[in-house]
Parts: sequence; structure tokens; C-alpha cells
Amino acid sequence: METLTQTGTELKTDFLPLKGTDFVEFYVGNAKQAAHFYKSAFGFQSLAYAGPETGVKDRVSYVLIQNKVRIVLTTPLNSAHVLNDHIRKHGDGVHSLALWVDDAYDAYEQTIKRGAKSFMEPTTLKDSFGEVSLSGIHTYGDTVHLFVERNNYNGPFMPGYEKWTPEYNPEPVGLLYVDHCVGNVGWNRMNPWVKFYEDVMGFKNILSFDDKDISTEYSALMSKVMSNGNGYVKFPINEPAEGKKKSQVEEYLDFYEGEGVQHIAIATHDIIDTVTKLKNRGIEFLTIPDNYYDDLLSRVGNIDEDIEPLRKLGILVDRDDEGYLLQIFTKPVEDRPTLFYEIIQRKGAKSFGKGNFKALFESIEIEQAKRGNL
Ligand code: FE2
Repeated sequence: METLTQTGTELKTDFLPLKGTDFVEFYVGNAKQAAHFYKSAFGFQSLAYAGPETGVKDRVSYVLIQNKVRIVLTTPLNSAHVLNDHIRKHGDGVHSLALWVDDAYDAYEQTIKRGAKSFMEPTTLKDSFGEVSLSGIHTYGDTVHLFVERNNYNGPFMPGYEKWTPEYNPEPVGLLYVDHCVGNVGWNRMNPWVKFYEDVMGFKNILSFDDKDISTEYSALMSKVMSNGNGYVKFPINEPAEGKKKSQVEEYLDFYEGEGVQHIAIATHDIIDTVTKLKNRGIEFLTIPDNYYDDLLSRVGNIDEDIEPLRKLGILVDRDDEGYLLQIFTKPVEDRPTLFYEIIQRKGAKSFGKGNFKALFESIEIEQAKRGNL
């Protein structure tokens, strides 16, 4: 069953104060084309660039921004580069969930002494715009958390990057900030990773779903939502559960060839407008059976939005004690059925749409079946 645990006033004792998600970095096979996709389809804006022209000889990185969402797309420039290992194994995927801190040295020390495995010792990078300090630890799979301290920096992104000002600049679509990032981990690995986020990073488990909440006829999963002290950073952790057929988490693990980031949820203030624009630009969303909307209001109570545009776009609605939320999920954005996006508009609700799980997972299973993976 679902259990909700309120976080108390733990801020005073928060040994890892986080100010939010700083950026998400993807290792991809062709960053130039990926950047075009995220600009054209998702409305990201060109921010910064690193590559041979800026003195970085072995890789290229494009930094894109939309309000507070910053993504970095990185491609190695030769076959010997270590980044190829990530791309060969996982396809295009998230390598780093970077977190914004006031002190990257302290964040490293605090987490390492609590058992984190080091990815990058603290380093300070400097250029004419100031300095950025970075450090990093490993989390599930080949994914890492970077700690980014940028209070004394006023350049476009960080030293090594130059402002990127191309002529092609499609309009944004209203994406605001990263609401949560979900990790898929292996069988019986959810609780060890929950313990990692508790012990090493001081997170709290604020919500749990067992396989009775999240099972359809075929696939099942379990999930625990981890949140940092101020609630700015939320990482749900999924593991597969036994069902009649293959869990969607298992399909992910098979195709990503390991644990990794399953979806990134991005907030908007106007989901109807944002999703309309995304669809017009070619983003594909999971479709929901039409009858989902027939008794929607009896399930969620009155909402501000008209039902018709929600039905037309396939936007889901759920309510909890504090309000309601609207959400929709893209199909995987790559050829391997791995990473996808959620667009979410919160109107008071702080939960994750449990009431939609059944409709949503049945929709995912239809797609799994088409791929022959159910
Ligand atoms: Fe989500």
C-alpha cells in the first residue's frame, strides 16, 4: 500500500544542503543532432558550448536551458575516449544528475565519509567570469551525482564553456524546472539504494508504493520516493516486481543494460499549452484509453481545466490531500526503450499520480507488446 511520511523540520541538521538540480548531463552518440532535437522539439534554448573551438580537444558538449532546466549533451570525438564505454553499453543516456550546492568540497567530504564512492575529487575551475567548484560521487548503475558550487561565477555555464549563440532559436514551450528524476534499479536493489540516499545523502523516504499499488494484469514494480531535506530534489527509485509478464522496469534494465535514469519529470504552469506545443513539434506521448475521462471528475473532484483538451491530449489527473496534479508521459525518446519524460503541473498535490498508475501502465504495456517485450 501507499504510505506517506511527512518530512519534519530536518533542515537544521541537513549535512548536505541542496539548492536544486543544477543540470542533467547525457552522454550521447551525436551531441549536435541531440541538441537540435532538444531545441526543436522540447524548446530548449542554446546556452553554452565546449569543444575544440574552446580548447577541449577530445569531446564536444552543448548546454541547453529552459527556465531552470539545464541539460548538457556530450559526445566523445575519438574511439579511445572513456565516454564511449557508457554510450556503447547504454546508448544515449543520463550520466550525471548534478546538484547545486553552496560548498562542493563539503558536499564531497560529507558524503564520502558516509560511504559514497568517489567519482571526482573536489576541483575548482577558473576563468575570467569567476570560479566553479565541482566534485562527484557514484550512485546507481553508471550514474553519478556531481556537486556544483557556482556562487562566484557569472559566465554562461562554467569554465571551459563559451556562450553559444546560433541563429536557430525555436521558442520555448514553458518547461520550468526538474520536478523529480526516477531511477530504475535491479531486483531487490530498491532498498539498498534507499538506504544509500538516507545514509550517504541525508534524504528521507517520503512515499512508498508496493506491488499491490503498481501492478496491472502483467507488469508490476515497487517504488520509494526519496527527498532531500528542503524537498527541492526528489528521486523515486523503482525496482521490478513479479507479474504475469515482464515488468516495464525489467524491460528498461535489459535495454539500458543496467540501472539508470528512467524518466525526468519537468514542471510547467500550463500543461495544456506545453503539451500542445510539444505535440506540434513531434513529441510522442503515451495514449490513454478514452474511457479514462468518462468518470474523471467523480474520481478527482472539480478541477480548473476543461476535460475536453485533457482528453484530446491524453493528460492525466490525480488528487491527494493537498490538491491535484496533471501529468503526461512521453514515449521513450530514443530507439532503445529507456529514457522518457514526464510533463507535470502541480496544483497543490505533492504526490506522484498513484491514481493514474493503472491506466498509465496499461498504456506502457501496449507499447511493450508492440516491441515484443511483454
Ligand atoms: Fe514521475
